[in-house]
Amino acid sequence: MSSKKTKPAVKKPVAKKSALAPKSTPVADKDKTQVKQNKTISLLRGMKDFLPREEQYWLAVNHAAESASKAYGYRYMATPILEDASLFIRGVGRGTDIVEKEMYIFEDAEGKRIALRPETTASVARAYIEHGMHAVPQPVKVWNVGPIFRHDRPQAGRYRQFHQLNVDSLGERDAVVDAELIALAYNVMRDLGINTRVSVNSIGSAEDRERYLVELTGYFRTKRHALSEESKKRLLKNPLRILDSKEPEDQEVVAEAPKIIDWLSDESRKYFMRVLEYLDEMEIPYLPDPMLVRGLDYYCDTVFEFFVDEEVPENGKPLALGGGGRYDGLVEQLGGRPTPAAGFGLGIERIITAMRKQKEGQLPTSETEGSVSPLFFAHLGEQSRRRALKLIEQMRRDGVLVNHALAKGSLKAQLEIANRLNSTHAIILGQKEIQDGTVIIRDMASCIQDIIDEKQVSTHAKKILQGKA
Ligand code: HAM
Repeated sequence: MSSKKTKPAVKKPVAKKSALAPKSTPVADKDKTQVKQNKTISLLRGMKDFLPREEQYWLAVNHAAESASKAYGYRYMATPILEDASLFIRGVGRGTDIVEKEMYIFEDAEGKRIALRPETTASVARAYIEHGMHAVPQPVKVWNVGPIFRHDRPQAGRYRQFHQLNVDSLGERDAVVDAELIALAYNVMRDLGINTRVSVNSIGSAEDRERYLVELTGYFRTKRHALSEESKKRLLKNPLRILDSKEPEDQEVVAEAPKIIDWLSDESRKYFMRVLEYLDEMEIPYLPDPMLVRGLDYYCDTVFEFFVDEEVPENGKPLALGGGGRYDGLVEQLGGRPTPAAGFGLGIERIITAMRKQKEGQLPTSETEGSVSPLFFAHLGEQSRRRALKLIEQMRRDGVLVNHALAKGSLKAQLEIANRLNSTHAIILGQKEIQDGTVIIRDMASCIQDIIDEKQVSTHAKKILQGKA
């Protein structure tokens, strides 16, 4: 993709206003005034809190990400949230929306321009170079889950802080790597109950794109009058991005535009065909999309995006659940040795929204659901509270998780909570039980009670959990 030399969108005003600005005491003064006035301080626009009721989704995504990454031989690698801003300007490209409009940049105490990472691929490439990873057996396969920052216009599914699962493989150029990455992403989402559609395309080598761009720019110039204002601007800076336009007035012109696939070299065309053959082999459903170009400059050859299957929004294009591709030139562009690479990023907030839609009713949605255990430990009075604490701790060590409400005094209040948590059994401890060294096990549905030796509580609880009690 082109990277014309325009001035990077380093948003000084953002830096000046930023609470991160180290020397500015007025920010601290303002804080004091707000505390004095006892004003509530709300969430920043475009940000999102993850609430306890979403815990199950968050954990499920992280679990699926971890197990799939491990299954395919990827290892966890974390890079910092803060990076030198020029990493992304050079890596992602000056002409891209991310660098031009969306980066959070501030100046630190030493006057260095720092960015809150707007993506992680450039960071992964930087770390690969910095830690001499070319010297270890290739490919280097890494994965990570973490926050990303883009100062975009907030709307449904578009946040200013969001989270991505990123999976990258560096050091190997083979169509099987691209296909395996697509399969990995597809399987993460399938494990989470989301049916996805994968759009794939090839944007060829840098030389292929150069030749194609001449043709494409010529075509769009002849249709300039019919293009949206945004696309007219893109025509000067990054004509390839017009293909990705969401503006209704551009759609007809875009549909008739020359297709990059017709401008691929033999090598790139064969490479792309092999990726598709491997996907067929793995039975991963895909749709070739000749207009897919992606919005970051480092891609070459294979590019892909994931969408919820059969989701056709009323206006415009659906939001992608994730996207990625091959980026053979990035490591070299950042000062490393020539190193082929490929990877993808999935948007976790969008995945969770899709899970909610597709798994409606199957996963907990309220604050109280999604409890750690169907067992509830109830106590009667101070002495039994102490003993309950000890027994609960003992059970935890024995690997048995149990809910409780030790801060509540009355048994009634505790059992109400047990009911709200859909507990199947309550373990009850009163004065008499302490003296006898026993506990009561109550079946919450039938109210039938058993008395057991307190030393047997973990063993008995395990039997209940296995459905054998
Ligand atoms: P990307 O397409 O910019 O790719 O982002 C990947 C995914 O992050 C998107 O498909 C979407 O699900 C999610 N996402 C992007 N912006 C937002 C937003 N404002 N709010 C919520 N979710 C969002 C990359 O970032 C590449 N670095 C991926 C990659 C890794 N390529 C190779 N390795």
